Amino acid sequence: NTASLKGAATTFSVGTITRSPYVTAGGTHIEILKNEFNNLTSEYEMKMNIMYPSEGNYDFSAGDAIVGFAQANDMNVHGHALIWHNATPSWVENFSGTDAEFEAMVEDYITTTLNHYKGKVRSWDVVNEAFEDGTGHPLRNSVFRQKMGDDYIKKCFQFARNADPDVILFYNDYNMASSPTKRQAMFNLVDELGDLIDGVGAQMHISYNGPSAANIQAVADGTVSRNLKLHFAELDIRANPEEDTSLTSLSSDRANAQKDKFKEVVQIYNAIPLDNKFALTVWGVRDNESWLLDFWGVPEWPLMFDEDYNKKPAYAGFLEGL
Ligand code: XIL
Repeated sequence: NTASLKGAATTFSVGTITRSPYVTAGGTHIEILKNEFNNLTSEYEMKMNIMYPSEGNYDFSAGDAIVGFAQANDMNVHGHALIWHNATPSWVENFSGTDAEFEAMVEDYITTTLNHYKGKVRSWDVVNEAFEDGTGHPLRNSVFRQKMGDDYIKKCFQFARNADPDVILFYNDYNMASSPTKRQAMFNLVDELGDLIDGVGAQMHISYNGPSAANIQAVADGTVSRNLKLHFAELDIRANPEEDTSLTSLSSDRANAQKDKFKEVVQIYNAIPLDNKFALTVWGVRDNESWLLDFWGVPEWPLMFDEDYNKKPAYAGFLEGL
């Protein structure tokens, strides 16, 4: 079946995100998931604030709906994300116990979550977005760093490895292509983690006019040279990076420039060695469902399907990259 993204991409999984209400409702969105994709990520329901909303109370119901749907439709599930400063429940932010109790709580959370999804979730982003963007890219001073120390990331990977030695463990972050210094900080971390890490998740929130192919290639080269798996994660390609608020629709010039960038990203990914391949994941199906609209409040058309579920030039660009 080459008449689909997953059918055409024979050497890696093609991923996207979903939400439990979509899975429950069915409809065109779900048909597209089934037809086009074979790797599924929960957009926000497998993060700590949802899975562990209050002390001692785990809630996997939303994630279970997504995982059940994926299993019923032969899709792999990528778990995203165990530790993210932006999805930490308030009871954890305001943890009242000792540092040792905090660390035991994190170990219990990671162990319980990986055990719950053992055999159902192929891979996890253990830590997401740990670095600051500013000079030197220090570790963010999250509650995890404050209470567990600078090696909190290593501890979290060790907890995950102990809980499920078969699951593929990723570190995931953004601006890996556009910022060579942040990329280096990430690779330094990866080198410190050694055998505890299996792969690098490079979030691909990019624009039609950047970063360059050479900088995207550098992410691939650094990952391949370390013998790790590469996840081109969270791909969306902004067609209006200037944030021109007067734009009300996507011009054909912008749609074509976006198509070329989709093609370039897929070409770079497709050319890496088979052993380093994992998945290329787009961060959404339809333009109007993209997080860029809600979260950043900008007019954007960053995905491969328009709001009526028509395939955009970007879709053809993806196929041409293979
Ligand atoms: C975003 C989701 O798309 C939103 O629905 C949610 O409100 C916030 O998170 N980097 C990540 C993703 O790693 O988890 C983020 O997803 C987008 C940025």
